[in-house]
Amino acid sequence: MSRSLLSVDDLGAAGIQSIMRLSDSFAEVSSRSIPRVPALRGKTIAALFYEDSTRTRLSFEAAAKRLSADVMSFAVKSSSMSKGESLRDTVQTLGAMGADAFVVRHASAGAARLVSRWTDAAVVNAGDGWHEHPTQALADCYTLHRRFGGAAFTMAGLHAVIVGDVKHSRVARSNVKAFTALGARVTLVGPATLMPPCLDGWPVSVEVDLDRVLPDADIVYLLRLQSERTDESLLPSQREYTARWGLTRRRAALLPGRATVMHPGPMNRGVEIDPEVADREFCVVGDQVRNGVPVRMAVLFWLLGSGLPTGESSGQVLAVDGGDAHQPDSIGASDEEVR
Ligand code: CP
Repeated sequence: MSRSLLSVDDLGAAGIQSIMRLSDSFAEVSSRSIPRVPALRGKTIAALFYEDSTRTRLSFEAAAKRLSADVMSFAVKSSSMSKGESLRDTVQTLGAMGADAFVVRHASAGAARLVSRWTDAAVVNAGDGWHEHPTQALADCYTLHRRFGGAAFTMAGLHAVIVGDVKHSRVARSNVKAFTALGARVTLVGPATLMPPCLDGWPVSVEVDLDRVLPDADIVYLLRLQSERTDESLLPSQREYTARWGLTRRRAALLPGRATVMHPGPMNRGVEIDPEVADREFCVVGDQVRNGVPVRMAVLFWLLGSGLPTGESSGQVLAVDGGDAHQPDSIGASDEEVR
């Protein structure tokens, strides 16, 4: 059985820090004129995206190619899913073609975990319903590390404010885990209708009034209103949402000079963020995307290569050809029936 990354819980603080260290090495590779190393030559990575994606899908493909792996792309709309083939049979079909890893995005929470039970290949959760999006959280932590600096890969002393549709956000769930594991204080802000019904066990504070928390924020993490995940009418109007929880120009002026604004994308300019504010230097959306590639290289190398470096330096991985370091590892994720 292979190693998998289904949740930030699979890494913990030490694992996140090791991925960050490895990402530094792969960021250096990405800056070369020929950004490619033979680390995963001979490995095949299957991208199983049952939900739309621009950033995650393309950045996994770029990461795999920079590691010299082969990529099998699966287009759901033109696949035999339309003839009724199940997710399980699809996974086993691609496994029979030699996939060493599956990168899975699906609308159902727990889908990636189920895939990991049906295959001996490694599995990466690229977003499962409202549950988790661990590689987005890793890209975000790495972006903050590069912005705030320091060799220790810690967020101790930082206050992260996550704003908006937390209820439907897998990014919020993974980032609460990752940010707090690294020592940050986290406050969730938004209307009660967009907060999870139960926050027991979440190591966060909750606030309704965004204006109150902005002057004390180091990181403002904005979330998109995910109307595709609900038929309920959770807000009086989009306009009222922007008025109360959007990062308008007036609210941006409340932020301290050190603050960083983040968004996982896709952004709805004019809804959760003012279009002009989104283009300011403190808004690092482009860095989050850019850093997603070396971070996903690190994740794929961890899963299919020689594992995580244990020391401070990970430079040696760049000279290593892909090994066979599959080790048993168990996963915890919520179960939900997936066809
Ligand atoms: N952040 C993110 O997951 O974006 P995509 O849906 O474009 O992959």
